[in-house]
Amino acid sequence: MTQIPFELSAKDAVAWLQELPDASVDLLITDPAYESLEKHRAVGTTTRLKHSKSSSNDWFAIFPNARFGELFREVYRVLKPDSHFYLLCDAETMFVARPEAEQAGFKFWKPLVWDKCTIGMGYHYRARYELILFFEKGKRRLNDLGVPDIITVPRVRGGYPAEKPPEVAGVLIQQSSSPGDVVVDPFMGSGSVGIAAGRLKRRFLGNDLNPEAVRIAASRLREFGEGRVPDDLPEVSDEQLDLPEVRLKPDTTYPTR
Ligand SMILES: C[S@@+](CC[C@H](N)C(=O)[O-])C[C@H]1O[C@@H](n2cnc3c(N)ncnc32)[C@H](O)[C@@H]1O
Repeated sequence: MTQIPFELSAKDAVAWLQELPDASVDLLITDPAYESLEKHRAVGTTTRLKHSKSSSNDWFAIFPNARFGELFREVYRVLKPDSHFYLLCDAETMFVARPEAEQAGFKFWKPLVWDKCTIGMGYHYRARYELILFFEKGKRRLNDLGVPDIITVPRVRGGYPAEKPPEVAGVLIQQSSSPGDVVVDPFMGSGSVGIAAGRLKRRFLGNDLNPEAVRIAASRLREFGEGRVPDDLPEVSDEQLDLPEVRLKPDTTYPTR
């Protein structure tokens, strides 16, 4: 029997990970809605992070730094022995996340840099990069020791809020897994890690608290075959969600609802 290419859920990341068996995941790559994103949102320098009059939750729910401990303990538990974990974050969050992940049992190797090629938000030295913290459980060799620590891929414009190009996760997946492996993202947003996993013939288990994100991810991942998607996803109104209008323009890659 062929294996299901992807399975998606719409739960709290920690609660969802708690349902996965011990040592069942080959690679975990994730980009949480970390707390300092609130600051970028408050600065409001981009239309994608604009503040809504109608809602306080105008972008997506934030995952508080105080929950990193429980998150990383679950990530460590579900990963197989001798595996890698990549966490996308900014410099401020790195200093909070690193000791929490080490406490959970991970070895921290180094931050990788995603160079987005063009400048974004900020007043002092406009932001052109994001960090990818590279952690290890046990001991696993990277597949290619010639790959540099700067990954250069242009940013995504007009997508899901904070959407990442799949090519970034593609490098990490090629480095730290093999075809047929299980790749997991508990904060998947529009499912970019899943897209990269599908292209590289890995299985994807993805989750996001936001049912609309799960719908978007499901529609993108369908190109890899029939996956498992919850059939009871609650409806979320545009007011509650306030996703950027650009996502619904006809020239985006997403189908309109
Ligand atoms: C930075 S976005 C991820 C974007 C994604 N990398 C992409 O390329 O589209 C973070 C996601 O975390 C989700 N999120 C926030 N709190 C969560 C929680 N407690 N459990 C699961 N997902 C959560 C948000 O809904 C949001 O989609």
